[in-house]
Amino acid sequence: MLKPDYPVRTPRLALRPFTADDLDALYEFHRLAEVTRYLYHEPRSRAEVSVLLEGKMTASALASDGKALCLAAELAATGQFVGDCTLFWLSRAHQQGEIGFIFHPAFQGRGLATEAAAALLRLGFEGLGLHRIIGRCDGRNHASAKVMEHNGMRREAHLVENEFVKGEWTDELIYAILRREWNGSGRPG
Ligand SMILES: CC(C)(COP(=O)(O)OP(=O)(O)OC[C@H]1O[C@@H](n2cnc3c(N)ncnc32)[C@H](O)[C@@H]1OP(=O)(O)O)[C@@H](O)C(=O)NCCC(=O)NCCS
Repeated sequence: MLKPDYPVRTPRLALRPFTADDLDALYEFHRLAEVTRYLYHEPRSRAEVSVLLEGKMTASALASDGKALCLAAELAATGQFVGDCTLFWLSRAHQQGEIGFIFHPAFQGRGLATEAAAALLRLGFEGLGLHRIIGRCDGRNHASAKVMEHNGMRREAHLVENEFVKGEWTDELIYAILRREWNGSGRPG
């Protein structure tokens, strides 16, 4: 069971549950082709984002495996919503989790996703007591790979053309970190 004390703070972000007020800001970047380029889905309509948000609003705690914790990342200084963060509880028996993150392009390249990923790892290891946390991305998604590497995650696999996505064969990178490898900070020690 994981029910974080909100907000979960990083140096520059506050992570909190989603609310109905997040619709416009969430749509603002889920509608962009550059954001969904390496994701499994196409840019989303406002109606699709509305359905997505309904699900995220009910995902502010983790009561069982197979579920996701969905957090909105806002700038601590201004309260502006900038990122969509997820911690999946993959398996209770094997103490495994997975992290995911999507940031508004206007707020990328500043290390904010790296900070958010560090907070997700902390929630997984300290809050949920996980043994291992993974992250996956398209082989061409260098920004995502960097975020995971900055957090000390190891590249465990480069699967070659293992998936057919959006009309083409794509590679998949799998990153992972064990609790004993995690040094509690956003950067490798
Ligand atoms: C993945 C994502 C969250 C990363 O966000 P970000 O703002 O670039 O992350 P950060 O600023 O914390 O750091 C990213 C690192 O990647 C680097 N980077 C960014 N774009 C890059 C690119 N196209 N090629 C190589 N490196 C890149 C940055 O310079 C930074 O590295 P540095 O700290 O060594 O300078 C963002 O690109 C995004 O939202 N993409 C769309 C959704 C997505 O693909 N999510 C991941 C799903 S697996």
